[in-house]
Amino acid sequence: QDELKQLVGQAAADYVNAHVPEGAVIGVGTGSTANCFIDALAAVKARYRGAVSSSVATTARLEKHGIKVFDLNEIESLPVYVDGADEIDPSGAMIKGGGGALTREKIVASVSDVFVCIADATKRVDVLGHFPLPIEVVPMARTAIGRRVTAEGGVPVLRVKPDGSPYITDNGNEIIDVKGLQIADPCAFEALVNAWPGVVTVGLFASRGADLCLLGADTGVQTIEY
Ligand code: A5P
Repeated sequence: QDELKQLVGQAAADYVNAHVPEGAVIGVGTGSTANCFIDALAAVKARYRGAVSSSVATTARLEKHGIKVFDLNEIESLPVYVDGADEIDPSGAMIKGGGGALTREKIVASVSDVFVCIADATKRVDVLGHFPLPIEVVPMARTAIGRRVTAEGGVPVLRVKPDGSPYITDNGNEIIDVKGLQIADPCAFEALVNAWPGVVTVGLFASRGADLCLLGADTGVQTIEY
């Protein structure tokens, strides 16, 4: 799978080189697959002004490669956002946030013209929900949101660090991972969860899903357009 991640990371850099004008700023996601994209982008970094990052970890990796990182508030438009996914369905809707960066990922994705998802073939599913759905919550709302999750048929699990204390996001919030869902209508479920007080971000990327998926398999990289 590491090789497949490198393959799609390189394919995404090739896509960006072919479709994005020189001097542009690139939106960059978070996770092990996005890291492969960052490493491939580093080889052509002179073509671009820099990047907007979706997490503290991605910022560190971009800067290590000498790629300038811009605050999103300084940038008027992003031609492309490249990121991985935990699951992607046939419509391009995704579960994201396994790495905890869902809020900044959703913000950067929302202002990008094209969302390129890079994934290995194991991420492709018919129905989202086997991978636990992350919900970033304001800590005082944790239990109330857990009750709402249970009423929807899900099993809420507070994400914890190896020492048992709550995992805290880059934004100072907690994450509830929801098990046991079968998300038949991702857009409707995203809207439902977004309306619960205390929800910062739900890791369903459906109303703004992927425009393109570069899917890595043993036979090579398949390009899927949505
Ligand atoms: C980070 O918060 C996530 O959304 C990742 O993009 C997603 O979990 C995919 O990560 P991997 O590429 O490491 O599987």
